[in-house]
Amino acid sequence: MHTSIWLDTEIKPFQPLHDSLQTDVTIIGGGITGVLTAYHLAKQGVKVVLLERDRLSQSTTGHTTAKITAQHDLIYDELIQHFGEENASLYYQSQKEAMAFYHKTIKMFQINCHYQQEHAYLYTNQPNNREKLEKESEAYQKLAIEGTLVDQIPFSFPHLKALRMNTQAQFDPRTFLKTIVAEIEKYQGHIYERTTAVDIDYQSNTIVRTARGHNIITDNVVVATQFPFYEGKAFYSTRMYPSRSYVVGFTSSEAYPGGMYLDVDQPIRSIRHVQKEDKTIWLLGGQAHKTGQQQQHADPYTELTQFANRYLRSQAFHYQWSAQDYETLDKLPYIGALNKRHPNVFVATGYRKWGMTNSAVAAQLLADLIVGKENPYKKLYQPQRFHADPDLKAFMRNNSDVATEFIKGKLSKTDRVEQLKPNSSAKIKHDGKTIGVYKDDDDQLHAVDPTCTHLGCECNWNQSEKSWDCPCHGSRFNYDGKVIEGPATKNLNKLSL
Ligand code: FES
Repeated sequence: MHTSIWLDTEIKPFQPLHDSLQTDVTIIGGGITGVLTAYHLAKQGVKVVLLERDRLSQSTTGHTTAKITAQHDLIYDELIQHFGEENASLYYQSQKEAMAFYHKTIKMFQINCHYQQEHAYLYTNQPNNREKLEKESEAYQKLAIEGTLVDQIPFSFPHLKALRMNTQAQFDPRTFLKTIVAEIEKYQGHIYERTTAVDIDYQSNTIVRTARGHNIITDNVVVATQFPFYEGKAFYSTRMYPSRSYVVGFTSSEAYPGGMYLDVDQPIRSIRHVQKEDKTIWLLGGQAHKTGQQQQHADPYTELTQFANRYLRSQAFHYQWSAQDYETLDKLPYIGALNKRHPNVFVATGYRKWGMTNSAVAAQLLADLIVGKENPYKKLYQPQRFHADPDLKAFMRNNSDVATEFIKGKLSKTDRVEQLKPNSSAKIKHDGKTIGVYKDDDDQLHAVDPTCTHLGCECNWNQSEKSWDCPCHGSRFNYDGKVIEGPATKNLNKLSL
């Protein structure tokens, strides 16, 4: 089984940073946000350095479902209720502009990245959610969003109603980014892979420090690491929560009927397709859960496979992968200056599951902020906003969740190493310390201190991904403790038993 279908596309490798240097803008994070921000800046003559901890666009961007859509689940009715029609409209306009950016750029460079326009659908089989779809449809009318309620979508699973948003799109993000990366180089932008930024320091200049001890003196910094690895007392840790979801890719005996689909019931499921040479690959996603809180008895891939077998006439399964998303308190991304104390450090985070359009919104907005251009979305997305409702409720819920995980993680250690079966894990007490142990298929034990190196919560085992996942802010580590994704930048302590 392959992992993500997008990783079939190779992006050329870049050398690690070997020297200290000076630049106008340092962008940390080589996902789609970082790459697009570098592109916008470099083509305006700004000196740009892009640092990626691992390989470009391999982590979050390599594990998306890559829908380019403004249909972000049920959102517009809620935005109108909480923030008014004007702000809801601004949100929609920003997403529409992002879609137009992809359309124009792909056409301009003639990028063969399976870009395809499709209608997008939200669907439900629950009467109470049918009412929500109807309300969302009214919001579409208020905001002049083209779309309509329909009774049927072309699948055999039960459903009562669907809401269509017309002419959205889908593509292969890494094939798209190959061209953008080449453009950055053309405009003299510098890209360094396998280069981890570990701190931002303020002396007479702003300095980005790397794990290998190099310094970049820089006028501005863009932190595009999905969860900001550097918070500068802006408390993103208390204002977002991470969740994971899963995708399987398969062939079907049915022809794909067109469209992109999202269930608004639980568990949420997402459906789209990709044409891969002579094969049509169906992508079925869903089974989301808060990171670090996977139910141990339920394997998301098995659940998705069973659904595909039952309703989508699946034949052969070729791909499976998982993705991580962050949700902010009010569901809008945080894009802009980190806080007032650090006006030259910018962040873009909290895209929920809508990274393709939000990354394009963020890249344009951050580039405009840095070169001093007006941007109509600055206020809507500015990270320091704090809306009374629903922020406060979400803030309380999120923090009590984090506190519970912090305490719960320290308490539940029951199994013993001897009782471990191959390919399973446990937390044990050993010499008064908590140890996370994974026994692999060859009976080899891998032991780590499961205390997250970000802010000290205790990681839990994710059996589907064979990883230690932190329930607090979503850092993930492999069975040997190596960082898979941040905000942590240091590996878990490896232990010997
Ligand atoms: Fe923040 Fe683990 S990710 S404590």
